[in-house]
Amino acid sequence: MHNSPKKIVLIGDSSVGKSSIVHRYISDVFLSEQEPTIGATFFTKDLKISQEKIKLQIWDTAGQERYAKLTPMYYRNAESALIVFDVNNPETYEKAKLILQDVISNIEHNPVLVLLGNKNDLEIKVDLDEIKKFCKENDLLFFLTSALTGDNVDKSFYSIAEKIYSN
Ligand code: GTP
Ligand code: MG
Repeated sequence: MHNSPKKIVLIGDSSVGKSSIVHRYISDVFLSEQEPTIGATFFTKDLKISQEKIKLQIWDTAGQERYAKLTPMYYRNAESALIVFDVNNPETYEKAKLILQDVISNIEHNPVLVLLGNKNDLEIKVDLDEIKKFCKENDLLFFLTSALTGDNVDKSFYSIAEKIYSN
């Protein structure tokens, strides 16, 4: 059904900035003392894509290891899985690739898969050319954002919503 909410789930290592991105997008604020998420929380956002009103239901999951077993429950019926890493921390990109494998093996339908490199305001310590190539080969959308400055946050969600809508 066109008007049912579109479920988007943010997943990724702890501290990469998932909650910060969601707060920037929903409320246009940044909290430097953002606490680690417990379990998961969701937010809704109304958007207009080519004259059509759509509702996003955005799930912000916990990245800490102790919650790892819960994560599939959140992404299993999602329209889009947004896998977030921190461009300043290469380990979080390696983690993102492992998560992507999990998502692909646990989701039966074809979700819009997105890789999102956050903290673009800090020094970039990952190989962006390699990442772009990886995304192209695996049919992933790729965005660089900063929840701190707000750079590219709105635009990324808009593009994801457009892709969900055209799916
Ligand atoms: P979990 O809930 O544990 O999975 O973590 P998370 O991915 O939700 O990370 P969170 O949003 O809590 O952010 C972790 C820390 O990174 C906080 O201190 C944020 O202020 C900081 N942070 C988040 N986004 C950015 C960003 O774009 N730039 C910078 N410099 N810091 C950021
Ligand atoms: Mg969080």
